[in-house]
Amino acid sequence: MNTFDNVSGLYKEKSLVQQKAALKLLDILKVGSMDDAIDIACGPGHIAGLLSKITRGKVTGIDISEGMIKQAKISYPEIEFRQVAAEDMDYNNEFDIAFCNSALMWFSDPDKAIKAIFNSLKKSGKLGLACPATSNWSPWFDRIISKVVGHKEIKSIFSHWKNPWFHLPAKNDYRLFFEKHGFTTVFINVEHEQTDYSPEEAFNVYLSGAANGYTGRKYYDIEIDEDYINAFNNRVKEEIQRQSKDGKVKVDFNRLYYIGGK
Ligand SMILES: C[S@@+](CC[C@H](N)C(=O)[O-])C[C@H]1O[C@@H](n2cnc3c(N)ncnc32)[C@H](O)[C@@H]1O
Repeated sequence: MNTFDNVSGLYKEKSLVQQKAALKLLDILKVGSMDDAIDIACGPGHIAGLLSKITRGKVTGIDISEGMIKQAKISYPEIEFRQVAAEDMDYNNEFDIAFCNSALMWFSDPDKAIKAIFNSLKKSGKLGLACPATSNWSPWFDRIISKVVGHKEIKSIFSHWKNPWFHLPAKNDYRLFFEKHGFTTVFINVEHEQTDYSPEEAFNVYLSGAANGYTGRKYYDIEIDEDYINAFNNRVKEEIQRQSKDGKVKVDFNRLYYIGGK
C-alpha cells in the first residue's frame, strides 16, 4: 500500500493549497497548444485533465499510488495513466513538458527521479516543478506539529518517526540540484505563500498532504495503530482550532517554482 492510497478518493477536493500552486506553475510554464506533456506524480489526474484542455498534444500521467491511478483512470478515461514511480520511468525523448507539482519532497530517490524526468523530455523540452521547499518549508506545520507532539499519548511513539521528506536548505541548492542533472535554469523562485483558511479547510490541507507523512506507517520504526493515527489527527485538528483567530487560520508555506530547460 502506498502512502497516498488512503486519500485518493478525497484528495482532489481537499488539496486546496496544491491546486493553487499547480495553477500558478501552469501560468509560469506556458504550455504550448501542441505540446506533448507528462504530469509526474499526477495524483487523481485533475491537473493532467487541465493539461489536456491546454494542449492537443499527447497527455500522460504517472503516479506511484495504485489508488490515485485508479481514480485518475475513472475520472479521465481519455488520458493515459500509468502506475509507476518517477524514479522508474523509462520514457526517452517523448515530452515537450514535464509537469511536477507538490511531489518532489515525497520522492524516495530524488536524484534518480530527476534523471528519469530529464530523459523523458525531448531536446528543448521544459520541466515545470513546484513544491514546498527549503529548511523552512512550512512555518505553519512547525507551529501546529510542535504542539501536537508535546502531548503524552503522542510523544514517545513520535520519537520513532523518521522524517520522510526531501528538502534542500535554500533556493540555490535547488538550482544546483537540477543543473547537476542537465537542466538549464530558466526560472527559479521560492515564494512565501500565506492564505487564510477556515479551520476545516486548514485541516483538509493537512489531510491531503502532510498527514500522509506524519502518520504514515512506513515512516515509523515501530508498529503504529489506528488509535495513534486518530489521536495524532485529532490533536492536529484541536491545535488548528486553538490557533485560529476570528474563524481563520493563517496557513503558510515556502514554495519553490522552477522551470528548467533541457
Ligand atoms: C501531494 S500529492 C500531489 C498530487 C498532484 N501532483 C497535485 O498537484 O495535486 C503527491 C503525489 O506524489 C505521489 N508520489 C509520491 N512518491 C512518488 C514517486 N516516487 N513517484 C511517483 N509518484 C509519487 C503520491 O502518490 C501523490 O499522488
